[in-house]
Amino acid sequence: MAVTAWHHEWMRPRALLGSTAAAGAAVFGYASVVERNWFALRRYDVPVLRPGARPLRLLHISDAHLTPGRHRLLSWIRSLDALQPDLVVNTGDSIAHPDAVEPFLEALGPLLDRPGVFVYGSNDLYEPKPRNPVRYLWRDSELHPRRGLPDLPWAELGAGMAAAGWLDANNRRGRIKAGELDIEVAGVHDSHIGYDRYDDIARQADPAADLRLGVMHSPEPEILDRFAADGYDLLLAGHTHGGQVCLPWYGTLVTNCGIDRTRARGLHRHPADGYLWRPGEASRPWLHVSAGLGTSPWAPFRLFCRPEAALLTLVPRAN
Ligand SMILES: [Fe+2]
Repeated sequence: MAVTAWHHEWMRPRALLGSTAAAGAAVFGYASVVERNWFALRRYDVPVLRPGARPLRLLHISDAHLTPGRHRLLSWIRSLDALQPDLVVNTGDSIAHPDAVEPFLEALGPLLDRPGVFVYGSNDLYEPKPRNPVRYLWRDSELHPRRGLPDLPWAELGAGMAAAGWLDANNRRGRIKAGELDIEVAGVHDSHIGYDRYDDIARQADPAADLRLGVMHSPEPEILDRFAADGYDLLLAGHTHGGQVCLPWYGTLVTNCGIDRTRARGLHRHPADGYLWRPGEASRPWLHVSAGLGTSPWAPFRLFCRPEAALLTLVPRAN
């Protein structure tokens, strides 16, 4: 009898351990195989145009982190042209492997024939290194140290998009025509690795343009503040992956940059709602942060945070 009792005492924690491990494996399997490939198209109406203007369809893509073998990701990107966007904006981290440029450009395919704008993210320059994937959950606001010369073909990537006519907005300004709109565009390179040079583009945005668009990879509040102060209407960023691992009823755990948790993905204003905007300043710009299409190859999972692209329909303001 004593042996049997001992046996039961021993089996209970073992069974608990076993079922916990099985549940963990099931969640990881879901996050890495199912949700990571369960792409979502988010749709938003953004009231940024002058009254009477014709709406513009803007496709925002970000953070594809493309590596070989991601066929579902490639075919989903390829399918986005069917949305017939008037303008495509890519906010960076498109690749994560030396051989990813050609497949990424091929996946963009006919989207490259449309007006477009791009900036780089750090992962377009530096191949991700192996790291503990759980580290993703506590590396909030960490800046990556510079790692010497870039080891990814970022210049080929940029040349491919620029050759198609897309505007390179890395610390640059430009003017594009999309739909019926004359759009002033300014962008910065990735703040996350200290490559942003807002001073190079600082200037009051042209009030005569139909739309003033600010583009960046990482939505750092100090850069967003400067775009807002310069009179931009719409700001687009990526980088956060929406947290990549979220909790039900709580949302994003970390943003991996200076933006607050509640604006790690989706459409918001900047400064955030509730901020007392100073009298005399222009109205607050809209901010869309993409949760991104991919993941680092060393943290290949998404949980309650599906990979996404966004179709922003720019519509007239109420007044
Ligand atoms: Fe990213």
